[in-house]
Amino acid sequence: MTDSASPGRDDEHIHATRAYYDDFSDRYEARRGGNDPGGYHDLVDDLEVDFVRRFGLGGDLLEVGCGTGLLLQRTAAFAKSAKGVDLSPGMLARAKERGLDVAEASATELPFPDETFDVAYSFKVLAHVREIERALAEMGRVVRKGGFLIAEFYNPSSFRGLAKRLGPPGEISASKDESHVFTRFDSPDQARAYAPPGTRFVAARGVRIVTPVAAALRIPFVGAALRRAEWLLCDSPLRRFGGFWIGAFRKENTG
Ligand SMILES: C[S@@+](CC[C@H](N)C(=O)[O-])C[C@H]1O[C@@H](n2cnc3c(N)ncnc32)[C@H](O)[C@@H]1O
Repeated sequence: MTDSASPGRDDEHIHATRAYYDDFSDRYEARRGGNDPGGYHDLVDDLEVDFVRRFGLGGDLLEVGCGTGLLLQRTAAFAKSAKGVDLSPGMLARAKERGLDVAEASATELPFPDETFDVAYSFKVLAHVREIERALAEMGRVVRKGGFLIAEFYNPSSFRGLAKRLGPPGEISASKDESHVFTRFDSPDQARAYAPPGTRFVAARGVRIVTPVAAALRIPFVGAALRRAEWLLCDSPLRRFGGFWIGAFRKENTG
């Protein structure tokens, strides 16, 4: 996918995404963060946080699209410092209640000087950004040389991609469902091509590779087996079939 947005269209897009997540913020954690122990969302979050730890232990971290701060709270526990930005005041209100260092900003215009962080990471966010290459370039700009960008994409070639194409949109509030937000799907090859100049692909992880539907994780024994399989396979060649494909890119020391 490529972007061909005019400034006017982009403002509208950003406005609609903000409104969507402001609406969603009341229910966002209904099945997350211990509200559904061992559930699907916790598995996804655990695999994401674990991947950040690999690159970000003891570093200065930025979460782009931190939402309610569920992940940021966890990465802050192993970082030297941790900041977050998000478009939605509704989502950020919860992050602020958690005492996190967060600010309202768009991924496409990060309010930080060049080379401020060791790692900039983003989960379940870039799929809602039309100007995805601009957002990745911004992440690259604020990362120090030798540091890392960690970016997650929605993969069309996956059980999740199939379910999203064929199934009804999920409800996120009394008046809205998932059809009210722009969502893009990018294959791992497309995702790698978006990496900003001066960065090099170093690693990938697939999340939700073999879990056909989220509800399968609730089935006794089957759920435990799927959970185990997801952890076993997340860094294997099958990662390219993860519903969420996470790429890590290193900012080169040169230049
Ligand atoms: C599905 S939530 C993910 C939140 C968090 N990363 C997590 O994993 O729990 C997506 C978040 O991305 C934010 N978002 C969407 N587009 C954005 C943009 N252009 N800039 C900053 N945040 C954005 C939304 O406001 C929302 O909080």
